[in-house]
Amino acid sequence: MTEQSQVEVYWHNHSVPREEREALNTNKGCVVWFTGLSACGKSTVANLVDHKLHSLKKHSYVLDGDNVRHGLNAGPGMLKDEHGEEFAKRFGLGFSAQDREENIRRIGAVAKLFSEAGVIALTAFISPYRIDRDRVRKTLKEGDFIEVFVDAPLDVCEKRDPKGLYKKARAGELKGFTGIDDPYEAPRNPELVLDAGTKTAGQLAEEVITYLKSKGVV
Ligand code: ADX
Repeated sequence: MTEQSQVEVYWHNHSVPREEREALNTNKGCVVWFTGLSACGKSTVANLVDHKLHSLKKHSYVLDGDNVRHGLNAGPGMLKDEHGEEFAKRFGLGFSAQDREENIRRIGAVAKLFSEAGVIALTAFISPYRIDRDRVRKTLKEGDFIEVFVDAPLDVCEKRDPKGLYKKARAGELKGFTGIDDPYEAPRNPELVLDAGTKTAGQLAEEVITYLKSKGVV
């Protein structure tokens, strides 16, 4: 193996400044980072926000935990062709603390690229560790990282259990499931807290849109 003492990689500035892309899009680029337990409603709310923004002719895109784990961050068994399976074995991610950290790092980098392209990136990942979310925040300009805590009590999420995963975790068939035998660290100072235990997804999506308007994002 060759040793590399120095990495010769340079940053290229874009020929189209971000502000000009944003002017064309009539919205600012940013990252709206939804975090919360599995089945708390992150993806549902993010997709409703996406739909509302689209109706307002704003540019947004949802990056969702389950979907991204089918491609960019797929683990073994997810990339069906031979070549893909080989990659998934070498670089694929599971749910250990280290794999979740790398999951969030990659998504943070992708979401940042979306924001620089003038798009509102709506990310829906459990992202259970505060330190991982804060690391993404630090890579973005002040105001470009909008942390949204989708706050639903564990018993509500467990009752919903759309994929039957809480049931499996309680039965001991699924180890390291967030909220059962793996931690979830709620944000200390999120930009927005959504009461997902009592309000409808439609109401919560409206709260996000109101926030984005108040900050001049749209
Ligand atoms: S994160 O913790 O790394 O942010 P991510 O949002 O990508 O997780 O994926 C969460 C989804 O993976 C859950 O909604 C659930 O469907 C599935 N999943 C499978 N195993 C686990 C697990 N051990 N803990 C949490 N979610 C899991």
